[in-house]
Amino acid sequence: MLEKDIERVLYSREDIQKVNQRLGKQITADYQGKNPLLIGILKGAIVFMTDLIREIDLHVEIDFMDVSSYGAETISSGEVKIIKDLDTSVKGRDIIIIEDIVDTGRTLNYLMAILKTRQANSIKVCTLMDKPSRRIVPVHSDYVGMEVPNEFVVGYGLDYAERYRNMGTIGVLKPEIYSGK
Ligand code: XMP
Ligand code: MG
Repeated sequence: MLEKDIERVLYSREDIQKVNQRLGKQITADYQGKNPLLIGILKGAIVFMTDLIREIDLHVEIDFMDVSSYGAETISSGEVKIIKDLDTSVKGRDIIIIEDIVDTGRTLNYLMAILKTRQANSIKVCTLMDKPSRRIVPVHSDYVGMEVPNEFVVGYGLDYAERYRNMGTIGVLKPEIYSGK
């Protein structure tokens, strides 16, 4: 039903599973003897995060943050507002920010700035997708699932008007979905 609105599937369920296995292995190898705190950025990262953590063979903890842009004036400042903050203290922790997609880099840049003031032991970023062609603020992601072209993608946690988050694949919508025809 959902996939009838998709013009082109970019990543199948199998593609996504392979990416998660690769990232999970990398994180497992890099954090041996550690107990990282994974911070999922709501809402887009939840589907990715729930699959990714099952590919990590370590004791991990999870927490969530929800952020939103401040509106027009912040298009230049890139300032974001915290809608939901962490329940856990990050002081002394090895944290990994889990994002669905890094686009302009503004959200991640601001999140890093906030988290850096909280005295974590280390901060790394794991993003399912990266759209480097759209970058405005230079941000570094330590773990990247896939690089995507400059197109609006939905599925696997990512939405258009809050829809399609529960689609198992990632794809590009048919233009008529946007035009409302
Ligand atoms: P910035 O620009 O701050 O944005 O790096 C990151 C957030 O923008 C959203 N985003 C998308 N959401 N399909 C989506 O459903 C996309 O193609 C897309 N590109 C950016 C997303 O919420 C991400 O966390
Ligand atoms: Mg998001």
